[in-house]
Amino acid sequence: MAQDVWNPKQYDQFKEQRSQPFFDLMNLLIQTKTPRVADLGCGTGELTAQLSQHLKASETIGIDTSDAMLEMAKSYQTDHLKFQKADIENWNPEKQFDVICSNAALQWCSDHARLFESLTKHLAPQGQIAIQMPMNFDYPTHTLAGIMSKETHWANLLGHEAREPGMKMLKVEEYARLLFKLGFQEQKVFLRVYGHVLDSRESVIEWVKGTTLNFVKSRLSDIDYQKFVSEYRERLFQVLPDDKPFFYPFKRVLIWGRR
Ligand SMILES: C[S@@+](CC[C@H](N)C(=O)[O-])C[C@H]1O[C@@H](n2cnc3c(N)ncnc32)[C@H](O)[C@@H]1O
Repeated sequence: MAQDVWNPKQYDQFKEQRSQPFFDLMNLLIQTKTPRVADLGCGTGELTAQLSQHLKASETIGIDTSDAMLEMAKSYQTDHLKFQKADIENWNPEKQFDVICSNAALQWCSDHARLFESLTKHLAPQGQIAIQMPMNFDYPTHTLAGIMSKETHWANLLGHEAREPGMKMLKVEEYARLLFKLGFQEQKVFLRVYGHVLDSRESVIEWVKGTTLNFVKSRLSDIDYQKFVSEYRERLFQVLPDDKPFFYPFKRVLIWGRR
């Protein structure tokens, strides 16, 4: 990403809704004795700390590229829980891990076949992988962001490299096949719809401003970003009903495997 556009406060507005898939993911993990744990794209570190406690980990490392997120994570740091600035796509730890977990982060990374192969190399024998990613890319919040970013005016401002997260994601069954190919004897791979009940469709705008629109924010001036959001809001509201409360169905893929 061109610059650090993650805003922990904006992201945490929907903390409760966003935590549930993490707990579902955590509950897929089988408890083993004092594992070494890595959390990729750890964000504010709050959930990393809970994961570490839940697994009674001997050592936990959370990595992230966002300075703003890592600043928040500092408060959770202990002798057994550390945070580092590192890019998941080039992550090359010295030791192997018993658990590699990633909640809502790998959708920002490209070439998942290569990435999963690389992560597998960092997994100790009998190690477990647990990954959750949003798969809502066919919902208007995401399709509209993609359409607008390809329109001439915005494409010129955003540059050629702009791409919305998730465009490189595989199909659900392809993740299952990939795990099999990588030697995961046991696996659970499934799509789940999380139904979020929000006050109104305005909350959907606040939601995407915390994540989906970050790829736009990182490439536009503040004024152009405000204009983008304003046009996006107007066009999105042409297709989202003005319901109160507003039901926001959100698909996510949960992936667990043990070698
Ligand atoms: C949606 S947040 C999820 C944070 C945390 N896992 C949670 O569930 O609360 C995604 C996080 O992934 C981080 N991230 C995105 N791409 C990354 C990359 N290539 N390497 C490391 N971190 C990345 C972002 O900085 C952000 O903190």
